[in-house]
Amino acid sequence: MTSVIETRYFPIDPLAPDPGAIEECGRIIREGGLVAFPTETVYGLGANALEEGACRRIFQAKGRPQDNPLIIHVASPDDLEVLTTDLPPQAAKCIQAFWPGPLTLVLPKAPRVPAVVSAGLNTVALRMPDHPAALALIRAAGVPVAAPSANLSGRPSPTLGSHVMEDLAGRVEAVLDAGPCRVGVESTVLDLTEALPVILRPGGITREELTGVLGQVAVDPGLQDESLAPRSPGVKYRHYAPKGKLVPVSGPEEKVQARILREIRRGREQGLRVAVLCSAESAPVYAGSGAEYVEILGSKREPWTVAATLYRALRECDQRNIELILAETFARSGMGAAVMNRLEKAAGHHVILLT
Ligand code: TXA
Ligand code: MG
Repeated sequence: MTSVIETRYFPIDPLAPDPGAIEECGRIIREGGLVAFPTETVYGLGANALEEGACRRIFQAKGRPQDNPLIIHVASPDDLEVLTTDLPPQAAKCIQAFWPGPLTLVLPKAPRVPAVVSAGLNTVALRMPDHPAALALIRAAGVPVAAPSANLSGRPSPTLGSHVMEDLAGRVEAVLDAGPCRVGVESTVLDLTEALPVILRPGGITREELTGVLGQVAVDPGLQDESLAPRSPGVKYRHYAPKGKLVPVSGPEEKVQARILREIRRGREQGLRVAVLCSAESAPVYAGSGAEYVEILGSKREPWTVAATLYRALRECDQRNIELILAETFARSGMGAAVMNRLEKAAGHHVILLT
C-alpha cells in the first residue's frame, strides 16, 4: 500500500538550475526520500543508492517488479569506487569517451551496494548522466543516486516534467522539471563483465559509436529473439506501452503508406479512434486520411529526431484516447536501433512486415 504524499514541484532552468531547489531535493534524497529529476535521456526517479529502504520505495512508487535492477547515477567517475570492485580497461575507455552521457556500464557489484538495487545480481549498472540538473542533484545529495525511469511501470518513459507528474504525483516527495529531455530514449546498457562487451539494451549511445572505441561489440540475441531470455532483466517486460493497440508497419515505403491508409479506413469503419506516427518525409500522404491524430516523429534520415519525440507521441495517443496506432518504422542503423527496439516492445513485438 502506498499512501498519498504531497509532491513538491520545482520548475527549474535546465542549464542553470536554481541552487535552492537543488539543495532541497538533494536533502530529500540524502534523508531517504524520492525525487524525480531530468536527465539527457528520460526523467529518472532517484533515491539514495546506498540505503536499502529508500531504494525499496522506488519499486513501490512505480509498481516495479522486484527482479528488475536499478541503474546507479554518479556525478563523477571518482564516485565509482564504492560501487564496483573492478574497473576493466574497457570501462575506462567508455568513461573517457562517453561520460557524461547516455551509456550505462554493467560491472561487478561492490558489497556496499544493497541487493535490492541489483535485484540480487552480483553486477551493478552505473552511469553518469549528461544533464546539469542531474549532476547538481547528485552532488547536492552527496550520495550515488539509484534511478529507474520516472514512469509508472508499464507506461512510456517520461520525457517531460508533466509526464512525471501524470504518473507519480502523490507518490514521490519532489519533482524537478527542466523541460524536455534531449535524447528521448533511455541509455544504452553495456555489459562489461566478460571479455566481449555486450549491448543489453540499445539506447542513446549507438553500437557504431561503441565499436569505434572498443572494437568488437556484441548485441544480446535475447533482444530480437523472443524465445531467448534477455540478459537485462528489465528488457523482458512489455513496458513503453501506450493504452491503444500499436501496429508498426515495415517494408518498402510506398507499400507501407498504402497499407497504413488501408488500416486507417478499416479502423474507422470499426468506429475506432486512429492515430498515425510517421516520418516527416511521408507525412503529406496521411493528410486527409481520416486519422484522428497524425504525429511526425522525425526524419527518416535523422533517427535521433525520432528518438526525441517517440515517447511523447505515445503518451499523446493515450491523452487523446486513441485505440489504434499505426506507426511507420525506421532503419536500424545508429539511433534507429534504439527507436525500433522501443517501437517493437511497445507493440509487443507484433509488426506488420511487407515485402
Ligand atoms: O537513460 C536511462 O538509463 C534512464 C535514466 C533515468 O538514467 N534510466 C532507465 O532505468 O532507463 P530503467 O530502470 O528504466 O532501466 C534500467 C535497465 C533495465 O533494463 C534493467 O534491467 C537494466 O537496466 N539493468 C540494471 N542493472 C542491471 C544489471 N546489473 N545487469 C543487467 N541489466 C541491468
Ligand atoms: Mg524504464
